[in-house]
Amino acid sequence: MSNITFTMIKPDAVANGHTGKILDHMIQNGFKIKAMKYIWLTEEQAGKFYAVHAERPFYKDLVSFMTSGPIVAASLEKANAVGDFRKLIGATNPKDAETGTIRNLYAESIEANAVHGSDSDENAQIESSFFFSQLERF
Ligand code: RTP
Ligand code: MG
Repeated sequence: MSNITFTMIKPDAVANGHTGKILDHMIQNGFKIKAMKYIWLTEEQAGKFYAVHAERPFYKDLVSFMTSGPIVAASLEKANAVGDFRKLIGATNPKDAETGTIRNLYAESIEANAVHGSDSDENAQIESSFFFSQLERF
């Protein structure tokens, strides 16, 4: 399913009141919301979601950050969703994020970087299934 990506609006952006602006930014750029959930992740959920990074030095901090407040999780649909969405959010470190990207506009730091975006079609599918049981209705 190359037309699906998965995103989270991270705790920093939710706490800073950017949820509406970020969702609008995604919608205005052609992404359609297929499923969406406002949720405060448990340590177990965040740990599992980011298990691919378990060996990275920032893993513990990342899990702690991702459980520091509520997030918005959503599956989005668009042609070339994964690639186009990564372009829309910008580089991991907001200092390197291109002007006008979501991370350039709303991120605070390399960790508190406002949004998540899937990095492959396979992971978009895995990550969507992590939060949503069915996407095909809309
Ligand atoms: P994401 O998965 O959240 O869309 O971010 P990404 O692909 O751009 O970056 P990734 O390498 O997958 O890292 C996942 C998240 O971990 C935090 N991080 N902290 N302190 C650090 O050096 C560091 N590096 C990464 C960020 O929240 C990053 O988005
Ligand atoms: Mg990533």
